[in-house]
Amino acid sequence: EMSNLEEAKKLAAYAAIDNHVQSGNVVGIGSGSTVVYAVERLAQRVQTEKLKISCVPTSFQARQLIIKHNLKLSDLDITPSLNVCIDGADEVDSNLNLIKGGGGCLLQEKIVASCAKQLIIIADFTKNSCKLGDQYKKGIPIEVVPTAYVPIKRKLESRFTGEIDLRMAINKAGPVVTDNGNFILDWKNFDQTLNWENVNQQLISIPGVLCTGLFVNMAKKAYYGMADGLVKVQE
Ligand code: A5P
Repeated sequence: EMSNLEEAKKLAAYAAIDNHVQSGNVVGIGSGSTVVYAVERLAQRVQTEKLKISCVPTSFQARQLIIKHNLKLSDLDITPSLNVCIDGADEVDSNLNLIKGGGGCLLQEKIVASCAKQLIIIADFTKNSCKLGDQYKKGIPIEVVPTAYVPIKRKLESRFTGEIDLRMAINKAGPVVTDNGNFILDWKNFDQTLNWENVNQQLISIPGVLCTGLFVNMAKKAYYGMADGLVKVQE
């Protein structure tokens, strides 16, 4: 038996794959628990419709999913321009601005999304929000060069309200290390009225900051699986 939330993720993922992927496409594969259903649906469509697609992963997890389902694995060297990128999000605001990187994969996700004509978000209904921070409380992830994490944390604390925490690993003594060998600072309790495009620019101008989990003006549509079994589309 699938939980309501898992059912909602699956509904969103299947609808997005069915509406936005066609034969001949190069497809970006995002990361997280919702994308698992998107890859499952892609594999079904390759089987039943003989769909021809290449897949560009956004993480180690995505690469493993592509391989497990026998989909054609590509990369940005081979296919630098993608038709579509399908990815999850931690929170989506009313302007389709996102918080991503709860699972630690923000940098590659942002690179791959930037190479796609369209970024389509798939999520359960809990991700649909008005303002960033309304629903998601784990903060805005910021991927940083490890040797710079202390000065970056201090700069952020002096420029912004809220707390900046180094993300720690669960089954290891020490920090989370990203797929790219970097650390993550989580910015919690931020002022929700900030201009996110402006904040993102300020953050990435600090030496050692590689990427933020703020995806501003990037997503084209968001598909939400709803509790009643329907799919809601935001654009
Ligand atoms: C990965 O680091 C994130 O950006 C994910 O896209 C995000 O956390 C969504 O994951 P779920 O689909 O598991 O909610």
